[in-house]
Amino acid sequence: MLIDTHVHLNADEFEGKEAEIIKRAQEAGVKKLIVIGFDHKTNEKAIELAEQYDFIYATVGFHPTIAKDIKDNDFVILDELLDHDKVVGIGECGLDFYWDKDHIDDQVEVFKEQIKRSLELELPLIIHMRDASEATYNVLSEFENLRGIMHCYSGSAEMVDQFLELGLHISLGGPVTFKNAKTPKEVAKVVPLDRLLVETDSPYLSPHPFRGKRNEPARVKLVAEEIAKLRDMSFEEVAKATTENAISLFKLEE
Ligand code: NI
Repeated sequence: MLIDTHVHLNADEFEGKEAEIIKRAQEAGVKKLIVIGFDHKTNEKAIELAEQYDFIYATVGFHPTIAKDIKDNDFVILDELLDHDKVVGIGECGLDFYWDKDHIDDQVEVFKEQIKRSLELELPLIIHMRDASEATYNVLSEFENLRGIMHCYSGSAEMVDQFLELGLHISLGGPVTFKNAKTPKEVAKVVPLDRLLVETDSPYLSPHPFRGKRNEPARVKLVAEEIAKLRDMSFEEVAKATTENAISLFKLEE
């Protein structure tokens, strides 16, 4: 059994195809999906899917690339959604200096608002970090008792310990399977097994040999297989550990 801890089944790319994609995921042994929101539309759609399928759970939040447009009223709307029974996390949120370097203050502020809610509501954070390792670490380290996921972790192997010390989990996706991806392969070897998660980030980041094609949750299996190979463990061990970690972090029903 596997859990895809980060899938955008709520993205436009999957419109009308949800049922067949879910079916293929289940056939591949992916028993639960965490559907991640990133703006108003996808937050609502994530909840809709979670209401429709008992093995789907939702997270809601604001992506750093829309931080510049987020106003107080947007948080009023978010707070209502955070009340929903099947919302199990906050995000994705974080910092992205690859796509937007012009609104760093907005990004930090919107990120902090979501971190505060994570602590108040005891919901794990789904953290997006791109070209912003130091800044993300600096914001997070202003808080204590954090719980959450460095999603599709793209930082260095050296920084893994710093994020672990903050209380966070490390999640790996398709890039760990890429032939030339030295860093994620190193990371896969150093994360303690009890802090490791797997994801697809579908429809993005399709693993090898589907790189560049539309990704889907069934392919989380390829991610777990590659991690098993890198750690010299069996696939079953990786699947079992990452599934248990996801169940306990998100407080899912077994
Ligand atoms: Ni994502």
